[in-house]
Amino acid sequence: MAESTKNATLSIDGKSWDLPIYSPTAGPDVIDIRKLYSDAGVFTYDPGFTSTASCDSTITFIDGAKGELLHRGYPIDQLAGKSHYLEVCYLLLYGELPSAEQLEIFESTITRHTMLHEQMVNFFRGFRRDAHPMAVMVGVVGAMSAFYHDSTDISDPYQREVASHRLIAKMPTIAAWAYKYSVGQPFVYPRNDLSYAANFLHMCFAVPAEEYVVDPILARAMDRIFTLHADHEQNASTSTVRLASSSGANPFACVAAGIACLWGPAHGGANQACLEMLKEIGTPDQIPEYIARAKDKNDPFRLMGFGHRVYKNFDPRATVMKQSADEVLDLLGVENNPILATAKELEKQALADPYFTEKKLFPNVDFYSGIILEAMGFPTSMFTPIFALSRTVGWVSQWKEMLNDPQNKIGRPRQLYLGNTQRDYVDIENR
Ligand code: SDX
Repeated sequence: MAESTKNATLSIDGKSWDLPIYSPTAGPDVIDIRKLYSDAGVFTYDPGFTSTASCDSTITFIDGAKGELLHRGYPIDQLAGKSHYLEVCYLLLYGELPSAEQLEIFESTITRHTMLHEQMVNFFRGFRRDAHPMAVMVGVVGAMSAFYHDSTDISDPYQREVASHRLIAKMPTIAAWAYKYSVGQPFVYPRNDLSYAANFLHMCFAVPAEEYVVDPILARAMDRIFTLHADHEQNASTSTVRLASSSGANPFACVAAGIACLWGPAHGGANQACLEMLKEIGTPDQIPEYIARAKDKNDPFRLMGFGHRVYKNFDPRATVMKQSADEVLDLLGVENNPILATAKELEKQALADPYFTEKKLFPNVDFYSGIILEAMGFPTSMFTPIFALSRTVGWVSQWKEMLNDPQNKIGRPRQLYLGNTQRDYVDIENR
């Protein structure tokens, strides 16, 4: 915990209270209000937590003004360019880049946790074929707590470690099998001779009828997408995992809650919504109409893939994703992809419009990811499951950090109550 270096003074009706201020290694100072209610009898009010730090953390830092994203201090563009997903997983989980030996042990451990308990296959068969794969992931990940009882005791550091590895390792298998089930193809089992990303592509696109060789450029692009989505401070789904965990719930139930939260179109569901929006716009000549709708206060339509609670500059992940989109589409010979052309023209027109620039609404991570995933052959319904797969390491790292935090206690926000004061029950004959 940071040391208080100065105080803020709050004055109400002639009385005043000193509130400790802590200075971070990066980012804004924070005012400690934990004793505010007991000392001054008032709550703070911050719907959506726009000005509230829910915890202290050493994992990820975002500078929204600069468009900077650091994982344990390393910039995302360096990690995306020089590292790979499982190495970033190690960094997020343990705080430092691994030695060659540490990385080999970690990758071998994750590789050998990729299989699901065979009886879990029955869960998939209980869903309709047209179930959204996010519904399947919420259900199957939650059900892991019914199969992996030897890693649900959160008071046991060893079980926490095993649960972390199982979640990171099995998410690709669960996501791939949700996809296979939706297209009526047999499940493809994980292979220990493939990299994490190549294994996921193989489980998604291989069929028993012929050999499927993973293109290394697509595997690299997939791995980069995983890395770009790995963690992102206290976003809605990570905060959901932390809040669920604060009650002592097991890690599988907490991550299932995070998956459910990520599904929303304002959060991880934006990549699916963005591609559907681009398809609805169709050709670049339709763009002005949609930009006008996004600016119209009376129209609920928003440009999906634009804007961010924290980034008031370019999302650095979007910049890397845009480069990756060009590479993948060139490789697949779809560099003339009409959707990509529409996306680039939409970005150009939006960023030339004062409404977006004045409100600091720039493309976020979801704006280009969907274009790459579609070019790779994924249906839009698989975009958010891939985001959830990628973000699992972030959820798990933040979950572990929280459990090791001596300040950890159950999260229980208060409210500004505007309802009826006490009144007596009225019998129905008198209403
Ligand atoms: C992710 O938190 C994270 O870190 C999330 C994430 C992660 O890695 O975990 O980065 C992943 O969720 C990225 C965001 C994906 N969502 C979308 O692309 C959906 C579209 N974007 C918006 O819904 C919105 O920008 C949010 C939800 C992302 C952020 O909303 P805020 O911070 O609550 O801002 P707001 O809704 O109060 O908007 C501020 C203003 C409003 O106008 P005014 O009322 O001030 O006049 O900007 C407008 C909004 O109407 N606005 C938009 C807009 N986003 C905000 N107008 C048009 N199109 C948009 N996309």
